[in-house]
Amino acid sequence: MESVLDLAPVIPVVVLEDGDDAVPLARALVAGGLSAIEVTLRTPAALGAIRHIAAEVPRATVGAGTLLTPGHVGAAVAAGARFLVSPGWTDRLLTAMRDSGVPYLPGVSTTSEVVALLERGVTQMKFFPAEAAGGTAYLRSLASPFPGARFCPTGGIDAERAPRYLALPNVGCVGGSWMLPQDALRAKDWGRVERLARQAAGFGPRLPR
Ligand code: 3PG
Repeated sequence: MESVLDLAPVIPVVVLEDGDDAVPLARALVAGGLSAIEVTLRTPAALGAIRHIAAEVPRATVGAGTLLTPGHVGAAVAAGARFLVSPGWTDRLLTAMRDSGVPYLPGVSTTSEVVALLERGVTQMKFFPAEAAGGTAYLRSLASPFPGARFCPTGGIDAERAPRYLALPNVGCVGGSWMLPQDALRAKDWGRVERLARQAAGFGPRLPR
């Protein structure tokens, strides 16, 4: 795998409180058609979850998100993460992600950050927090000045908004947690997660441009 953006049209973003949920949750997402799964390093359960999903759900491609330091990058790759996502970046973080040999997606929300990444040879980026930072209108405005940049918007996207993002020429995939509602996770309602995943998977694959 070389590109995170070409992995899947929709990447579920997981914030896992209970490590025991990792495998059933991943199985539900995969059964619904979402096989690229980003587990955010926002909870103590995250690294163990990545390990378990990598070992026990072979049809999943598990990645790590919310990487803020080179240490996070090393820990995520050691746990088995097959792609890396960060909400923002520094040169140290970018170097660690690049050196990991694993596909990575650094986050941006301004034009200068886009320019800085292009200057460093990075053309694929997460656009975060997508809705708060300007949504589809903002991303559409980036297409003309930055024809070489492609984005994975995440943050505040739901089932209604996702297709509008996916229709933009500079969007490769979208990320979000809308298919993992808190009440469904609390109830361990994996059937509901699977149904929401199936709906989200139906937003792609997209036609070649
Ligand atoms: C992320 O890290 O990409 C976001 O937290 C996902 O955003 P959402 O929970 O608003 O979908």
